[in-house]
Amino acid sequence: MLESTRCATTYLFLALRFCPGRGVCLSTLPEKRATHGPRFCPGCGVCLWQAKILEGTAPDIMPLPSEPAMPKVYLDNSSTSWPKPPGVIRAVTEYLEDVGCNLNRTGFATTCVLNKRTREARGRLARLFNYPDPQHVVLTPSITTSLNMVIKGLFKRGDHVLVSGMEHNAVTRPLFQMRRRGLSFDMIPCFGNGELDPDDLAPLIRPNTRAVITIHGSNVCGTILPIKQMGRVAREHDLLFIVDSAQTAGILQLDMVAQHIDILCFTAHKGLLAAPGVGGLIIPPSLARRIEPLVAGGTGVLSELDDMPDDLPMRLEAGTPNLMGYYGLCAALRWLARVGTNRIHTREIELYTQLLSGLQSIRGLRIHGTQNPSTSLAVLAITTPGLDIGQVAYRLDRKHQVITRCGLHCAPYANRTIGTWPSGTIRLSPGYFTKKSELTYALSALEESLYYVHSTMGQSR
Ligand SMILES: Cc1ncc(COP(=O)(O)O)c(C=O)c1O
Repeated sequence: MLESTRCATTYLFLALRFCPGRGVCLSTLPEKRATHGPRFCPGCGVCLWQAKILEGTAPDIMPLPSEPAMPKVYLDNSSTSWPKPPGVIRAVTEYLEDVGCNLNRTGFATTCVLNKRTREARGRLARLFNYPDPQHVVLTPSITTSLNMVIKGLFKRGDHVLVSGMEHNAVTRPLFQMRRRGLSFDMIPCFGNGELDPDDLAPLIRPNTRAVITIHGSNVCGTILPIKQMGRVAREHDLLFIVDSAQTAGILQLDMVAQHIDILCFTAHKGLLAAPGVGGLIIPPSLARRIEPLVAGGTGVLSELDDMPDDLPMRLEAGTPNLMGYYGLCAALRWLARVGTNRIHTREIELYTQLLSGLQSIRGLRIHGTQNPSTSLAVLAITTPGLDIGQVAYRLDRKHQVITRCGLHCAPYANRTIGTWPSGTIRLSPGYFTKKSELTYALSALEESLYYVHSTMGQSR
């Protein structure tokens, strides 16, 4: 087997045609170096194991020598859920095969069919999040788009907002952009396990504070934030409360009324179990009118207006929508309504508990997060003191077909909070469809990978 003659470093090295640091073509390097697999790029000294590769931004990945076929164990549901529930693929195909037309821009009968399905999706989302009016459910291409719309559309020079210390770049990057336009923001400090004390919020409020924006569940280590209590503090101080539910929608109860949420941003492709390419936000019209739409264009109706229409959802939905995505979302929401959030959450707790106790029994690991199923999503973040997490995750993937995600998970500030900056963590995130036997397999694969990386240490230099 190739495995016995070439170390994992070589595989990684072969996988990169260009050094992520400089863009130097690695295949032009002498064979000897390539075979020994330098840990650092000889061109510029960038560590080849580092997050650039692992976050998937390496410019070109060459095919690797394949291992014997083995079913993949998918533990990356925090990135995107997989597999999808029965009916989702069929619904996407139904749109492509049988409908195929554009919403509000085609024949009357088809427009009616499309409108019916889109209305159903909005209605189901409004019900799921306990919001009274489905017309205020705006569908976007992603939650990143939704958060950008809100952050860039709602605040102005001189405003101040508060965010948790666990945010994703989908919140912090637009905020940093807005900072250059005169917005200021502070982070509410969180504990090393990602938890936040809602009492820490009020002392940070200033006269010009306008909003609290928070993640509901951490995509880095799974910690669930106390949004109901945070929402109450925001309400008491007359601040907007904006929630990023990317990791929790479909898994935890979200109730916009009881949790005092003014704007809820969501994505379809994670816990809502639909295909990538659809996100959204639920926003009352009084706030939507204050937002200058980030994107303006065709709505299919009211074309005589020079500006985007005032009415929701149109005001924030310019351009041709992702209709096959809407069909898939509708099917996923039907399935979710049948199964129920409680059952999904219960299943995730079971998987979390099994994975946590397995990880706790492996020597040489550090587990991050609360390590408590009542305060965590089924997301487990680990580091491997003394061993490079990139090598471990690589071995898990290439040798054992266990798919995890390694690095900062687009959340540098959350990693600072939990003490895993700058390398990040290996994240294992099972989903509703993960089998317990798959977790058992993944745990032994992890043990083997730790052993392997430990035993080959030094060979790559
Ligand atoms: C908490 C959180 N917010 C926002 C996002 C961004 O999601 P998307 O890339 O689908 O827009 C993610 C994705 O991982 C996330 O986990």
